[in-house]
Amino acid sequence: MATLLINGKSHTVVAPDDTKLLWVLRERLRMTGTKFGCGMAQCGACTVHLNGDAVRSCQVTLAQAAGKKITTIEGLHPQGQHPLQVAWIAEQVPQCGYCQSGQIMQAAALLAKNPTPTDADINTAMAGNLCRCATYLRIRRAIKRAAQGV
Ligand code: FES
Ligand code: FES
Repeated sequence: MATLLINGKSHTVVAPDDTKLLWVLRERLRMTGTKFGCGMAQCGACTVHLNGDAVRSCQVTLAQAAGKKITTIEGLHPQGQHPLQVAWIAEQVPQCGYCQSGQIMQAAALLAKNPTPTDADINTAMAGNLCRCATYLRIRRAIKRAAQGV
């Protein structure tokens, strides 16, 4: 059993300590904005924040997540109006959409630490988030738009 602090709310979860956070979020708590892609830390679809850092929730155990501040795409902004979410709509970034919550969470962690990233900074930070629809150029434009506050 563990207590998780997710998007500002406390959740008690009864599951083995080595259960991956991704499955706790999706299957136990029905927070399905966080996606399963590879399960091997290779795609970034499952990205959430743990104490402000972007992590792959398919690799984080319940025991590791307990007591830390977890943010998922559902909690990034109470009305879905985080500057990145606004920019994502303005730039019409998604195609199929499957990778996009992970992309936004990765980008949000970048902007929190580096509010004015260069193209190189963005490429480095986002390199582990794959998009089968190849929306990479729109992702970069949206991150720059959010950083510029337009
Ligand atoms: S599902 Fe976690 S990195 Fe792919
Ligand atoms: S929008 Fe389809 S995988 Fe990225």
